[in-house]
Amino acid sequence: MNWQVKIQEVLDWRFQLGSLEFSILGLVHFLFLVFIVFLLAALARRLVRLRILSRTGMSAGLQDATARFVGYFVILIGLGISLQVMHIDIKSLAFLAGALGLGLGFGLQNIISNFVSGLIILIERPIQVGDRIEVGGLEGDVMEINARSTKIRTNNSITIIVPNSEFISSRVINWSHDDPKIRVPIPVGVACNSDPRLVEKALMEVASEIPDIMKEPPPGVRFMAFGQSSLNFELRVWTETMVRRKYRLISDVNFRIFEKFQKYGIEIPNPQLDIYVKKLPRQPPSDASLEHDVIGHLRKNRLFDCLNDEDIAQLAEKGRIRKYYPRQEIIRQGEEGDSLFIILKGVAEVRAGKEDSDTPRHLCTLGQGDFFGEMSMLTGEKRSATVIAEAESDIFELRKEALQPILQSNPCLAEEISKSLVRRESASSSKLESLASLPQVRDGEHVASKILTRIKSFFKL
Ligand code: CMP
Repeated sequence: MNWQVKIQEVLDWRFQLGSLEFSILGLVHFLFLVFIVFLLAALARRLVRLRILSRTGMSAGLQDATARFVGYFVILIGLGISLQVMHIDIKSLAFLAGALGLGLGFGLQNIISNFVSGLIILIERPIQVGDRIEVGGLEGDVMEINARSTKIRTNNSITIIVPNSEFISSRVINWSHDDPKIRVPIPVGVACNSDPRLVEKALMEVASEIPDIMKEPPPGVRFMAFGQSSLNFELRVWTETMVRRKYRLISDVNFRIFEKFQKYGIEIPNPQLDIYVKKLPRQPPSDASLEHDVIGHLRKNRLFDCLNDEDIAQLAEKGRIRKYYPRQEIIRQGEEGDSLFIILKGVAEVRAGKEDSDTPRHLCTLGQGDFFGEMSMLTGEKRSATVIAEAESDIFELRKEALQPILQSNPCLAEEISKSLVRRESASSSKLESLASLPQVRDGEHVASKILTRIKSFFKL
Protein backbone atom coordinates (compact mmCIF):
# COMPACT_ATOMS: atom_id res chain seq x y z
CA MET A 1 0.00 0.00 0.00
CA ASN A 2 1.09 3.47 -0.75
CA TRP A 3 0.99 4.96 2.78
CA GLN A 4 2.87 1.98 4.26
CA VAL A 5 5.68 2.54 1.83
CA LYS A 6 5.68 6.23 2.75
CA ILE A 7 5.95 5.46 6.50
CA GLN A 8 8.75 2.99 5.85
CA GLU A 9 10.58 5.67 3.87
CA VAL A 10 10.27 8.19 6.70
CA LEU A 11 11.47 5.68 9.30
CA ASP A 12 14.43 4.72 7.18
CA TRP A 13 15.36 8.29 6.51
CA ARG A 14 18.91 8.81 7.69
CA PHE A 15 20.68 11.89 8.91
CA GLN A 16 24.19 12.69 10.00
CA LEU A 17 25.23 13.96 13.46
CA GLY A 18 29.01 14.50 13.55
CA SER A 19 30.54 11.19 12.53
CA LEU A 20 27.34 9.31 13.50
CA GLU A 21 24.56 8.32 11.20
CA PHE A 22 21.01 7.92 12.58
CA SER A 23 17.75 6.72 11.20
CA ILE A 24 14.42 8.00 12.54
CA LEU A 25 13.62 4.45 13.66
CA GLY A 26 16.98 4.24 15.50
CA LEU A 27 16.22 7.51 17.26
CA VAL A 28 12.78 6.26 18.35
CA HIS A 29 14.46 3.11 19.72
CA PHE A 30 16.97 5.17 21.62
CA LEU A 31 14.32 7.46 23.13
CA PHE A 32 12.31 4.42 24.15
CA LEU A 33 15.38 2.99 25.91
CA VAL A 34 15.95 6.32 27.72
CA PHE A 35 12.31 6.27 28.84
CA ILE A 36 12.74 2.73 30.19
CA VAL A 37 15.94 3.79 32.00
CA PHE A 38 14.16 6.66 33.78
CA LEU A 39 11.26 4.37 34.65
CA LEU A 40 13.66 1.81 36.13
CA ALA A 41 15.48 4.55 38.06
CA ALA A 42 12.21 5.75 39.63
CA LEU A 43 11.29 2.14 40.46
CA ALA A 44 14.71 1.44 41.97
CA ARG A 45 14.50 4.58 44.08
CA ARG A 46 11.09 3.61 45.38
CA LEU A 47 12.03 -0.01 46.08
CA VAL A 48 15.28 0.88 47.84
CA ARG A 49 13.50 3.42 49.99
CA LEU A 50 10.46 1.33 50.94
CA ARG A 51 11.97 -2.15 51.12
CA ILE A 52 15.49 -1.52 52.37
CA LEU A 53 16.08 1.94 53.81
CA SER A 54 12.84 2.17 55.78
CA ARG A 55 14.00 -0.82 57.84
CA THR A 56 17.41 0.59 58.68
CA GLY A 57 16.20 3.20 61.16
CA MET A 58 17.89 6.00 59.19
CA SER A 59 16.39 9.48 59.40
CA ALA A 60 13.79 10.38 56.73
CA GLY A 61 16.18 12.92 55.22
CA LEU A 62 19.03 10.45 54.86
CA GLN A 63 16.71 7.79 53.40
CA ASP A 64 15.55 10.27 50.78
CA ALA A 65 19.10 11.33 49.90
CA THR A 66 20.36 7.73 49.57
CA ALA A 67 17.37 6.67 47.44
CA ARG A 68 17.96 9.62 45.12
CA PHE A 69 21.61 8.64 44.67
CA VAL A 70 20.53 5.10 43.76
CA GLY A 71 18.17 6.64 41.18
CA TYR A 72 20.92 8.80 39.64
CA PHE A 73 23.24 5.78 39.54
CA VAL A 74 20.66 3.67 37.68
CA ILE A 75 20.20 6.50 35.16
CA LEU A 76 23.96 6.76 34.58
CA ILE A 77 24.42 3.03 34.06
CA GLY A 78 21.19 2.75 32.03
CA LEU A 79 22.21 5.53 29.64
CA GLY A 80 25.64 3.92 29.19
CA ILE A 81 24.03 0.58 28.32
CA SER A 82 21.54 2.26 25.96
CA LEU A 83 24.38 3.89 24.06
CA GLN A 84 26.12 0.51 23.81
CA VAL A 85 22.94 -1.20 22.60
CA MET A 86 22.52 1.46 19.93
CA HIS A 87 26.20 1.03 18.96
CA ILE A 88 26.87 4.68 19.62
CA ASP A 89 30.50 5.41 20.37
CA ILE A 90 30.71 7.94 23.23
CA LYS A 91 33.84 9.43 21.69
CA SER A 92 31.87 10.28 18.59
CA LEU A 93 29.61 12.43 20.77
CA ALA A 94 32.50 14.76 21.51
CA PHE A 95 31.00 17.37 19.18
CA LEU A 96 27.86 17.30 21.38
CA ALA A 97 29.96 18.12 24.44
CA GLY A 98 31.19 21.20 22.59
CA ALA A 99 27.65 22.25 21.75
CA LEU A 100 26.56 21.53 25.33
CA GLY A 101 29.43 23.65 26.63
CA LEU A 102 28.19 26.53 24.54
CA GLY A 103 24.64 25.99 25.75
CA LEU A 104 25.83 25.86 29.32
CA GLY A 105 27.39 29.25 28.93
CA PHE A 106 23.94 30.62 28.19
CA GLY A 107 20.61 28.92 28.89
CA LEU A 108 21.57 25.81 30.86
CA GLN A 109 23.73 27.62 33.36
CA ASN A 110 20.94 27.95 35.93
CA ILE A 111 19.72 24.42 35.53
CA ILE A 112 23.18 22.96 35.95
CA SER A 113 23.91 25.21 38.92
CA ASN A 114 20.66 24.09 40.59
CA PHE A 115 21.42 20.46 39.82
CA VAL A 116 24.91 20.68 41.28
CA SER A 117 23.50 22.51 44.31
CA GLY A 118 20.98 19.67 44.68
CA LEU A 119 23.84 17.16 44.73
CA ILE A 120 25.69 19.24 47.32
CA ILE A 121 22.54 19.34 49.47
CA LEU A 122 22.19 15.58 49.23
CA ILE A 123 25.84 15.03 50.19
CA GLU A 124 26.35 17.75 52.81
CA ARG A 125 22.75 17.60 54.04
CA PRO A 126 22.44 21.12 55.44
CA ILE A 127 18.69 20.52 55.07
CA GLN A 128 16.76 17.27 55.02
CA VAL A 129 13.22 16.20 54.31
CA GLY A 130 11.10 17.04 57.37
CA ASP A 131 13.29 19.93 58.55
CA ARG A 132 11.78 23.25 59.53
CA ILE A 133 13.65 25.93 57.58
CA GLU A 134 13.63 29.61 56.71
CA VAL A 135 15.05 30.74 53.39
CA GLY A 136 14.66 34.06 51.60
CA GLY A 137 12.06 35.23 54.14
CA LEU A 138 9.93 32.08 53.76
CA GLU A 139 9.40 29.56 56.52
CA GLY A 140 8.13 26.02 56.17
CA ASP A 141 8.78 22.27 56.25
CA VAL A 142 11.00 20.60 53.64
CA MET A 143 8.73 18.18 51.77
CA GLU A 144 10.97 16.99 48.91
CA ILE A 145 14.51 17.62 47.69
CA ASN A 146 14.60 17.14 43.92
CA ALA A 147 17.50 17.38 41.48
CA ARG A 148 16.73 20.98 40.53
CA SER A 149 14.51 22.35 43.27
CA THR A 150 13.18 21.76 46.76
CA LYS A 151 9.55 21.80 47.84
CA ILE A 152 8.69 23.65 51.04
CA ARG A 153 5.24 23.67 52.64
CA THR A 154 4.39 26.74 54.71
CA ASN A 155 1.96 26.85 57.65
CA ASN A 156 -0.66 28.27 55.28
CA SER A 157 -0.40 24.97 53.40
CA ILE A 158 1.18 26.66 50.39
CA THR A 159 3.84 24.64 48.60
CA ILE A 160 6.79 26.72 47.44
CA ILE A 161 9.34 25.44 44.98
CA VAL A 162 12.74 26.88 45.78
CA PRO A 163 15.66 26.44 43.31
CA ASN A 164 18.42 24.43 45.01
CA SER A 165 21.06 27.07 44.33
CA GLU A 166 19.31 29.31 46.89
CA PHE A 167 20.24 26.90 49.65
CA ILE A 168 23.89 27.09 48.69
CA SER A 169 24.21 30.78 47.89
CA SER A 170 21.90 32.40 50.47
CA ARG A 171 21.52 32.16 54.22
CA VAL A 172 19.28 29.34 55.40
CA ILE A 173 17.94 29.00 58.93
CA ASN A 174 17.36 25.39 59.84
CA TRP A 175 15.28 25.25 63.01
CA SER A 176 15.52 21.46 63.27
CA HIS A 177 19.21 20.88 62.58
CA ASP A 178 20.69 18.48 65.19
CA ASP A 179 18.64 19.85 68.11
CA PRO A 180 14.84 19.45 68.15
CA LYS A 181 14.25 22.31 70.59
CA ILE A 182 14.41 26.03 69.87
CA ARG A 183 14.60 29.18 71.94
CA VAL A 184 11.96 31.80 71.22
CA PRO A 185 12.67 35.38 72.31
CA ILE A 186 9.58 37.46 73.06
CA PRO A 187 10.16 41.21 73.37
CA VAL A 188 8.05 43.02 75.96
CA GLY A 189 7.93 46.77 76.64
CA VAL A 190 6.50 48.21 79.86
CA ALA A 191 5.88 51.74 81.07
CA CYS A 192 8.94 53.52 82.48
CA ASN A 193 7.49 53.72 85.98
CA SER A 194 7.14 49.92 86.28
CA ASP A 195 9.03 47.91 88.87
CA PRO A 196 11.51 45.80 86.85
CA ARG A 197 11.55 43.03 89.45
CA LEU A 198 7.76 42.80 89.37
CA VAL A 199 7.91 42.62 85.56
CA GLU A 200 10.46 39.82 85.83
CA LYS A 201 8.25 37.96 88.31
CA ALA A 202 5.16 38.36 86.10
CA LEU A 203 7.00 37.13 82.98
CA MET A 204 8.47 34.12 84.79
CA GLU A 205 4.99 33.23 86.07
CA VAL A 206 3.65 33.40 82.51
CA ALA A 207 6.43 31.10 81.29
CA SER A 208 5.69 28.57 84.04
CA GLU A 209 1.96 28.53 83.24
CA ILE A 210 2.25 27.57 79.55
CA PRO A 211 2.69 23.81 79.08
CA ASP A 212 4.47 24.14 75.71
CA ILE A 213 7.33 26.04 77.35
CA MET A 214 10.04 23.70 78.59
CA LYS A 215 11.05 23.73 82.23
CA GLU A 216 14.56 22.66 81.25
CA PRO A 217 16.42 24.64 79.89
CA PRO A 218 14.66 27.18 82.09
CA PRO A 219 13.03 30.31 80.68
CA GLY A 220 14.75 33.61 81.35
CA VAL A 221 13.96 37.31 81.48
CA ARG A 222 16.46 39.92 80.28
CA PHE A 223 16.21 43.64 80.87
CA MET A 224 17.39 44.74 77.44
CA ALA A 225 17.25 48.54 77.40
CA PHE A 226 15.83 51.78 78.69
CA GLY A 227 13.76 52.77 75.65
CA GLN A 228 12.46 56.24 74.91
CA SER A 229 9.06 55.58 76.35
CA SER A 230 9.40 52.06 77.71
CA LEU A 231 11.60 49.65 79.62
CA ASN A 232 12.42 46.88 77.20
CA PHE A 233 12.53 43.28 78.37
CA GLU A 234 12.87 40.00 76.59
CA LEU A 235 11.27 36.78 77.74
CA ARG A 236 13.29 33.86 76.42
CA VAL A 237 11.59 30.50 76.37
CA TRP A 238 12.48 27.06 75.05
CA THR A 239 10.06 24.80 73.24
CA GLU A 240 10.17 21.44 71.56
CA THR A 241 6.50 21.05 70.78
CA MET A 242 5.89 24.39 69.06
CA VAL A 243 8.88 24.51 66.67
CA ARG A 244 6.45 24.52 63.76
CA ARG A 245 4.03 26.93 65.42
CA LYS A 246 6.32 29.55 66.93
CA TYR A 247 3.91 32.39 66.25
CA ARG A 248 1.09 30.52 67.96
CA LEU A 249 3.32 30.14 71.02
CA ILE A 250 4.26 33.83 70.91
CA SER A 251 0.57 34.73 70.70
CA ASP A 252 -0.33 32.47 73.68
CA VAL A 253 2.47 34.02 75.70
CA ASN A 254 1.40 37.55 74.77
CA PHE A 255 -2.21 36.87 75.82
CA ARG A 256 -0.99 35.63 79.17
CA ILE A 257 1.44 38.54 79.60
CA PHE A 258 -1.41 40.98 78.98
CA GLU A 259 -3.56 39.33 81.67
CA LYS A 260 -0.67 39.07 84.10
CA PHE A 261 0.27 42.72 83.62
CA GLN A 262 -3.32 43.70 84.29
CA LYS A 263 -3.23 41.65 87.47
CA TYR A 264 -0.02 43.25 88.71
CA GLY A 265 -0.90 46.72 87.48
CA ILE A 266 2.00 46.84 85.03
CA GLU A 267 1.34 49.26 82.20
CA ILE A 268 2.09 48.52 78.57
CA PRO A 269 3.23 51.76 76.93
CA ASN A 270 1.65 53.00 73.76
CA PRO A 271 3.85 54.89 71.32
CA GLN A 272 2.84 58.15 72.90
CA LEU A 273 4.24 60.84 75.09
CA ASP A 274 3.33 60.48 78.76
CA ILE A 275 3.11 63.89 80.40
CA TYR A 276 3.49 63.83 84.17
CA VAL A 277 1.87 66.74 85.96
CA LYS A 278 3.30 66.90 89.44
CA LYS A 279 0.43 68.74 91.12
CA LEU A 280 -2.95 69.87 89.94
CA PRO A 281 -5.23 72.11 91.97
CA ARG A 282 -7.91 69.85 93.44
CA GLN A 283 -11.35 70.73 92.15
CA PRO A 284 -14.57 69.54 93.72
CA PRO A 285 -16.17 67.04 91.37
CA SER A 286 -19.07 68.51 89.47
CA ASP A 287 -22.41 66.69 89.62
CA ALA A 288 -22.25 65.98 85.90
CA SER A 289 -18.90 64.21 86.09
CA LEU A 290 -19.75 62.35 89.30
CA GLU A 291 -21.10 59.34 87.47
CA HIS A 292 -17.73 58.69 85.83
CA ASP A 293 -15.62 59.81 88.69
CA VAL A 294 -13.96 57.37 91.08
CA ILE A 295 -14.44 59.66 94.04
CA GLY A 296 -18.11 59.83 93.22
CA HIS A 297 -18.33 56.04 92.95
CA LEU A 298 -16.54 55.51 96.24
CA ARG A 299 -18.61 58.08 98.00
CA LYS A 300 -21.80 56.40 96.83
CA ASN A 301 -20.58 53.03 98.06
CA ARG A 302 -22.17 51.98 101.32
CA LEU A 303 -18.90 50.44 102.42
CA PHE A 304 -17.26 53.85 102.72
CA ASP A 305 -20.21 55.60 104.36
CA CYS A 306 -18.20 56.42 107.45
CA LEU A 307 -15.24 58.00 105.59
CA ASN A 308 -14.89 61.74 105.16
CA ASP A 309 -14.16 63.43 101.82
CA GLU A 310 -10.45 63.60 102.43
CA ASP A 311 -10.18 59.87 103.16
CA ILE A 312 -12.24 59.06 100.09
CA ALA A 313 -10.05 61.30 97.94
CA GLN A 314 -6.99 59.57 99.38
CA LEU A 315 -8.45 56.14 98.59
CA ALA A 316 -9.27 57.22 95.04
CA GLU A 317 -5.75 58.50 94.56
CA LYS A 318 -4.09 55.34 95.87
CA GLY A 319 -6.15 52.86 93.89
CA ARG A 320 -6.29 52.40 90.15
CA ILE A 321 -8.95 51.80 87.55
CA ARG A 322 -8.57 48.81 85.27
CA LYS A 323 -10.50 47.88 82.18
CA TYR A 324 -11.52 44.22 81.80
CA TYR A 325 -13.04 42.63 78.74
CA PRO A 326 -15.84 40.04 78.54
CA ARG A 327 -14.65 36.61 79.84
CA GLN A 328 -11.42 38.04 81.20
CA GLU A 329 -10.40 36.65 84.57
CA ILE A 330 -9.93 39.25 87.29
CA ILE A 331 -8.91 36.97 90.15
CA ARG A 332 -8.47 33.23 90.35
CA GLN A 333 -9.48 30.88 93.14
CA GLY A 334 -6.53 29.62 95.16
CA GLU A 335 -4.15 32.45 94.28
CA GLU A 336 -2.61 34.82 96.78
CA GLY A 337 -4.19 38.25 96.70
CA ASP A 338 -4.01 41.51 98.54
CA SER A 339 -6.37 43.73 96.56
CA LEU A 340 -9.99 44.69 97.00
CA PHE A 341 -11.99 45.43 93.83
CA ILE A 342 -14.98 47.71 93.35
CA ILE A 343 -17.02 47.54 90.16
CA LEU A 344 -17.37 51.06 88.78
CA LYS A 345 -19.02 49.94 85.58
CA GLY A 346 -19.88 46.49 84.24
CA VAL A 347 -20.75 43.03 85.55
CA ALA A 348 -18.67 40.18 86.95
CA GLU A 349 -19.43 36.57 87.77
CA VAL A 350 -18.20 34.84 90.95
CA ARG A 351 -17.47 31.13 90.55
CA ALA A 352 -15.92 28.62 92.90
CA GLY A 353 -15.24 24.91 93.23
CA LYS A 354 -15.05 23.10 96.57
CA GLU A 355 -11.43 22.27 96.01
CA ASP A 356 -9.15 24.45 93.85
CA SER A 357 -9.12 21.65 91.26
CA ASP A 358 -12.97 21.30 91.08
CA THR A 359 -14.91 22.66 88.14
CA PRO A 360 -16.05 26.03 89.43
CA ARG A 361 -19.82 26.63 89.71
CA HIS A 362 -21.68 29.91 89.52
CA LEU A 363 -22.06 31.60 92.92
CA CYS A 364 -23.42 35.01 92.05
CA THR A 365 -23.24 37.95 89.69
CA LEU A 366 -21.92 41.29 90.88
CA GLY A 367 -22.77 44.64 89.35
CA GLN A 368 -21.97 48.32 89.61
CA GLY A 369 -21.00 49.39 93.15
CA ASP A 370 -20.39 45.79 94.35
CA PHE A 371 -17.03 44.86 95.74
CA PHE A 372 -15.06 41.60 95.85
CA GLY A 373 -11.64 40.30 96.81
CA GLU A 374 -12.04 41.63 100.34
CA MET A 375 -11.71 38.21 102.01
CA SER A 376 -8.09 37.63 100.99
CA MET A 377 -7.12 41.25 101.37
CA LEU A 378 -8.50 41.51 104.86
CA THR A 379 -7.35 38.15 106.16
CA GLY A 380 -4.35 37.10 104.06
CA GLU A 381 -6.06 33.86 102.99
CA LYS A 382 -5.99 32.55 99.42
CA ARG A 383 -8.72 33.72 97.01
CA SER A 384 -11.92 31.81 97.80
CA ALA A 385 -13.40 32.18 94.31
CA THR A 386 -12.67 33.10 90.72
CA VAL A 387 -14.15 36.35 89.44
CA ILE A 388 -14.59 36.87 85.70
CA ALA A 389 -15.75 39.99 83.86
CA GLU A 390 -19.00 39.29 82.01
CA ALA A 391 -19.08 42.56 80.10
CA GLU A 392 -16.57 45.28 79.44
CA SER A 393 -16.00 46.57 82.98
CA ASP A 394 -14.15 49.36 84.74
CA ILE A 395 -12.91 48.07 88.05
CA PHE A 396 -11.24 49.98 90.81
CA GLU A 397 -8.46 48.10 92.54
CA LEU A 398 -7.27 48.98 96.00
CA ARG A 399 -4.21 47.30 97.47
CA LYS A 400 -3.75 46.45 101.12
CA GLU A 401 -0.98 49.05 101.62
CA ALA A 402 -3.34 51.76 100.35
CA LEU A 403 -6.15 50.73 102.68
CA GLN A 404 -4.02 50.22 105.79
CA PRO A 405 -3.64 53.91 106.82
CA ILE A 406 -7.33 54.59 106.17
CA LEU A 407 -8.33 51.55 108.23
CA GLN A 408 -6.06 52.68 111.02
CA SER A 409 -7.59 56.12 111.20
CA ASN A 410 -11.16 54.86 110.61
CA PRO A 411 -12.00 51.79 112.73
CA CYS A 412 -15.57 52.15 111.48
CA LEU A 413 -14.44 50.98 108.02
CA ALA A 414 -13.35 47.56 109.32
CA GLU A 415 -16.74 47.26 111.06
CA GLU A 416 -18.62 48.18 107.90
CA ILE A 417 -16.67 45.66 105.84
CA SER A 418 -17.28 42.83 108.28
CA LYS A 419 -21.00 43.67 108.39
CA SER A 420 -21.16 43.78 104.57
CA LEU A 421 -19.60 40.38 104.44
CA VAL A 422 -22.31 38.90 106.61
CA ARG A 423 -24.99 40.87 104.77
CA ARG A 424 -23.94 39.40 101.46
CA GLU A 425 -26.81 37.02 100.96
CA SER A 426 -25.00 34.46 98.90
CA ALA A 427 -21.71 34.51 100.76
CA SER A 428 -20.76 30.92 101.30
CA SER A 429 -21.31 30.08 104.90
CA SER A 430 -18.31 27.77 105.05
CA LYS A 431 -16.03 30.63 104.10
CA LEU A 432 -17.56 32.85 106.75
CA GLU A 433 -17.18 30.05 109.28
CA SER A 434 -13.53 29.75 108.46
CA LEU A 435 -13.03 33.49 108.53
CA ALA A 436 -14.71 33.74 111.88
CA SER A 437 -13.08 30.47 113.04
CA LEU A 438 -16.49 29.18 114.10
CA PRO A 439 -17.71 25.60 113.86
CA GLN A 440 -21.03 26.82 112.47
CA VAL A 441 -22.56 30.14 111.48
CA ARG A 442 -25.14 30.95 114.11
CA ASP A 443 -26.02 34.60 114.24
CA GLY A 444 -24.79 37.36 111.93
CA GLU A 445 -23.81 39.77 114.75
CA HIS A 446 -21.53 37.23 116.33
CA VAL A 447 -19.89 36.30 113.05
CA ALA A 448 -19.37 39.94 112.12
CA SER A 449 -17.63 40.62 115.41
CA LYS A 450 -15.37 37.59 114.96
CA ILE A 451 -14.45 38.69 111.43
CA LEU A 452 -13.80 42.18 112.74
CA THR A 453 -11.38 40.80 115.34
CA ARG A 454 -9.64 38.87 112.57
CA ILE A 455 -9.33 41.96 110.34
CA LYS A 456 -8.04 44.02 113.23
CA SER A 457 -5.33 41.54 114.08
CA PHE A 458 -4.29 41.17 110.40
CA PHE A 459 -4.03 44.92 109.94
CA LYS A 460 -2.57 45.37 113.40
CA LEU A 461 -5.29 47.91 114.28
P1 CMP B 1 -11.59 36.66 97.99
O1 CMP B 1 -11.63 35.35 98.69
O2 CMP B 1 -10.51 37.59 98.34
O3 CMP B 1 -11.56 36.40 96.42
C1 CMP B 1 -12.70 35.87 95.81
C2 CMP B 1 -13.85 36.78 96.10
O4 CMP B 1 -15.09 36.41 95.60
C3 CMP B 1 -14.07 36.81 97.60
O5 CMP B 1 -12.98 37.42 98.21
C4 CMP B 1 -15.37 37.52 97.68
O6 CMP B 1 -15.23 38.88 97.52
C5 CMP B 1 -16.06 36.95 96.47
N1 CMP B 1 -16.96 35.85 96.87
C6 CMP B 1 -16.61 34.63 97.27
N2 CMP B 1 -17.73 33.89 97.54
C7 CMP B 1 -18.77 34.71 97.31
C8 CMP B 1 -20.17 34.55 97.39
N3 CMP B 1 -20.71 33.38 97.76
N4 CMP B 1 -20.93 35.60 97.06
C9 CMP B 1 -20.40 36.75 96.66
N5 CMP B 1 -19.08 36.96 96.54
C10 CMP B 1 -18.28 35.95 96.88
